[in-house]
Amino acid sequence: MSKNVLVTGSSGLIGGIILKYNSDNNLFGLDIVPSEYPNHEISDISDSKKLADIFSKNNIDVVVHLAGKTSVAGTWDNLIGNNFDGTANVFEASKNSEVKKVIFASSNHAVGLFENDDPYKQIISGNYQDIKNYELIKSNCEIRPDSLYGVSKAFGENIGRYYYETFGIKVACLRIGSVRPVDTPVEGNSNRFFSTWCSHKDISGLIEACINSEKIGFNIFYGVSDNKWKIWDISNQKKILNFHPQSDAEIFRTE
Ligand SMILES: NC(=O)c1ccc[n+]([C@@H]2O[C@H](COP(=O)([O-])OP(=O)(O)OC[C@H]3O[C@@H](n4cnc5c(N)ncnc54)[C@H](O)[C@@H]3O)[C@@H](O)[C@H]2O)c1
Repeated sequence: MSKNVLVTGSSGLIGGIILKYNSDNNLFGLDIVPSEYPNHEISDISDSKKLADIFSKNNIDVVVHLAGKTSVAGTWDNLIGNNFDGTANVFEASKNSEVKKVIFASSNHAVGLFENDDPYKQIISGNYQDIKNYELIKSNCEIRPDSLYGVSKAFGENIGRYYYETFGIKVACLRIGSVRPVDTPVEGNSNRFFSTWCSHKDISGLIEACINSEKIGFNIFYGVSDNKWKIWDISNQKKILNFHPQSDAEIFRTE
């Protein structure tokens, strides 16, 4: 059955991808700038009053919360309103409007400091020669943010846990890898995207699987394609969501 889905940050890259691949859900967009969504509200998530109004009049079943600042160089000044207050407002409005599920765009940067350790450091640098079997980073690993932006995503995951356990809202946190405007992992000599790339089809498929799944309680999933050199464990997507990403960055390797 189709659901009423509010997408915050609908005018951004992933918001556009969701619209392009949407199957049969009724999508509502919300952003500070206009989007292509047929139903769209211009609003800032740091404005809790306006957010409450939008939620109450649209009978929302599921929120896909993408809005926020996205730079690892983000400072407290631009993260406080957009990522911390804004995310808290989205959860509070969801609770007050009896939204059943929130899908929160977290980030690999909530656990980015693992990339300082071997073998992950070697893998993302493209030094594969000494790598044999290695353990993938699990969704229940330690939180190791690599930036204030990463801290803001860890905050989003934590407030999601609180709203799940206290108010019963189902929450899926997606630690997204690298979704790129040009849908390939190739950028100059960089090898990191060969580990972290998530194709447009895979991120939209993961989000749709989260929207439709009846099995979500509080869960964390890595938003990454099934890349040969991925560093994050995606096995829980199959178990919980019956979803498995289809793309593999390796097919773009030219040398
Ligand atoms: N693209 C990636 O590879 C990637 C990786 C990890 C995490 N994420 C997360 O996924 C989400 C979407 O990413 P994206 O690549 O589409 O980013 P994007 O920058 O293209 O889109 C973000 C959107 O949020 C809107 N926005 C920002 N502050 C807002 C506010 N206060 N109120 C309302 N709207 C606001 C912006 O106008 C923009 O349209 C972000 O939360 C980002 O941190 C993305």
